[in-house]
Amino acid sequence: MKKKPIDKKGKESKEKAREFAKFAPGFESQDKEVQYEDLEIKGDIPEWLEGAFIRTGPALYELEKQNYNHWFDGQAMLHKFAFNNGKVSYHNKFLESDAYKLGKINGKVCIKEFATDPCQTLFQKVKSFFVPPRSTDNGNISIITYGDENLATSETPLPIAFDKETLETLGHFEFSDDLKGHIQPAHPHYDDEGYVYSYLLKFGPVSKYSLFKMKPDDRERKVFAEMKTRNPSYMHSIGMSKNYIIVTEFPETINPMELAFLNKPLIKNYHWKPELGTKYRIFSKASGELVTMEGDAVFGFHHVNAYEEDQKIHVDFVAFKDASVLDRLYLAELRSNHPTHATGYLSRATLDLNQPNQKVELKRLSDKLIELPRIYYEKYNSKPYRYVYGAGNTVSGNFLDDITKIDVETGDSKKWYHEHCYPGEPIFIPSPDNEAEDDGVVVSVVLDTDAKNTFLLVLDAASMEELGRAIVPEVLPFGYHGSYLN
Ligand code: CO
Repeated sequence: MKKKPIDKKGKESKEKAREFAKFAPGFESQDKEVQYEDLEIKGDIPEWLEGAFIRTGPALYELEKQNYNHWFDGQAMLHKFAFNNGKVSYHNKFLESDAYKLGKINGKVCIKEFATDPCQTLFQKVKSFFVPPRSTDNGNISIITYGDENLATSETPLPIAFDKETLETLGHFEFSDDLKGHIQPAHPHYDDEGYVYSYLLKFGPVSKYSLFKMKPDDRERKVFAEMKTRNPSYMHSIGMSKNYIIVTEFPETINPMELAFLNKPLIKNYHWKPELGTKYRIFSKASGELVTMEGDAVFGFHHVNAYEEDQKIHVDFVAFKDASVLDRLYLAELRSNHPTHATGYLSRATLDLNQPNQKVELKRLSDKLIELPRIYYEKYNSKPYRYVYGAGNTVSGNFLDDITKIDVETGDSKKWYHEHCYPGEPIFIPSPDNEAEDDGVVVSVVLDTDAKNTFLLVLDAASMEELGRAIVPEVLPFGYHGSYLN
C-alpha cells in the first residue's frame, strides 16, 4: 500500500526532488551496546550540568525470523548521557523487558506490539480467541519517576524499573492494588503534593477508564473517578490543571470486540470517526465529578499544559487534523523516499465551565509545526506559562528537522535548524539560579546523517543559540522521550 507523495497544495514535485530517505538511518536498528567515556566536545557544555540525561526509544526492529512493522514497535534501548564538569559520557543498554527477552530467545515476536502481532499457527489463533493477549512491556516511550524509582514506560500498565547508574533492568514496577487493565498512558502527571495522576483503561464489551492518583511510596492506585464506554479512544496523554484532569477523547476509536475476535494488530482495530467529534472529559480531582464538553474532530498525542483562569480551563496540546499520522509511521513508509509529515500545531481548547453546552473552539497558538513538546514542568505545569520547546519541522515532509521554541503569549517562535540534522525531543533544564522561565538550557539528541554520527546538543534556552555539542561516533536511532535525572 504505497502512497504517492502528494499533498493538497500540489507540492509533489518539490517534495519529490528532495531525498527524504536522508532521515531513514534514524529508523534502522542499532543493536550494539556501547560505552564512550569522554565524548568529543565542540563549543562548551556548561559545567553546572551534572547528573544524566536518559532517554528511551526503539532500537531493534528485526528478530532472527520476524521483523517489526512500525516505529512504535521497536524494542527499547536506554541511552544515557552523563555530565561531569563540562565533559560528557555516553552509554546505552537494551531494556530487558519480557517482550525483548522472549523475542531474542525465540527469534520472533512473542508479545503483541502496537502494529506487529506474533506469528501464530491456526491452532494458536483459535486459542487466542479465548485467552486475552498479554500486554507488551516494551518500555520504549518515556522515562518517568515514581518516587525514587526510575522507569521506562510503554502504553500499558507494566512500567519497568532500571538502575540510573548502570541502566541495568531491575524488573516490573509492582503496584500494591489489584486493578486490572490494558492501557495506561506513558505520560502521567505529578502534583505539588507528590501524587502521580493517570488512568487505566480496561477493554471489554463495555470498557472502563479508571482515573487514579497514587503516592509512589505506597504503590496503590487510588481510583477517584470512573467512566464507561463501548468505544474507547486512542489517547497518548492527558491534561492536568490545578483542580481537574482533562481526558481528551479524540475520535480515533476501537471496538474491543473487534480486538478480541478479528485477531489483528492493536492499531488496525482503531478507526477514525470524525462524526463523533472530540470529547473533552473534565474530571474534578476532589470529587471525581465529570463534565463533558464537545468540539470538532481533531487528533493528538501530547498535551502540553493546562491551567485555570476564573471558571475556564485552557488545555494546550499539539493538534493534528486527523489520525493518519499513525499510518505514516510504519517503517516501510519511513524508510522510503516519501515525505513524512509528523508534526502538528500547538493549539488551545478553552473549556468554559459556566457554559458546558457551548461548542469548544480550538485556537492555534502558533503557525510553527511541532511535536514532542516540553515545558519547564516542575515550575509551570498547571500554571500560566509562556514557553514550549519541541522538535519541529522546517522543510515540508522532512520528519522532525529542527528544535523549536514557541512563545505561547505572542505565537512567535525561534528555532535551531541545520541541514542533515534530525533532533529528538528537547528537554529544558533550568539554570541553578533560574529566575526567568527560559533561564537555562535545552538539550536534545540530534542525528547528523551527513557526518553519520549523533550528538547531544546544548542550546541556550532564551536565545536558542548553540552552546556546545558532545559527539557520539554512532548513528543512534530516533527515540521518543527522556528525562534529566539529577
Ligand atoms: Co509521548
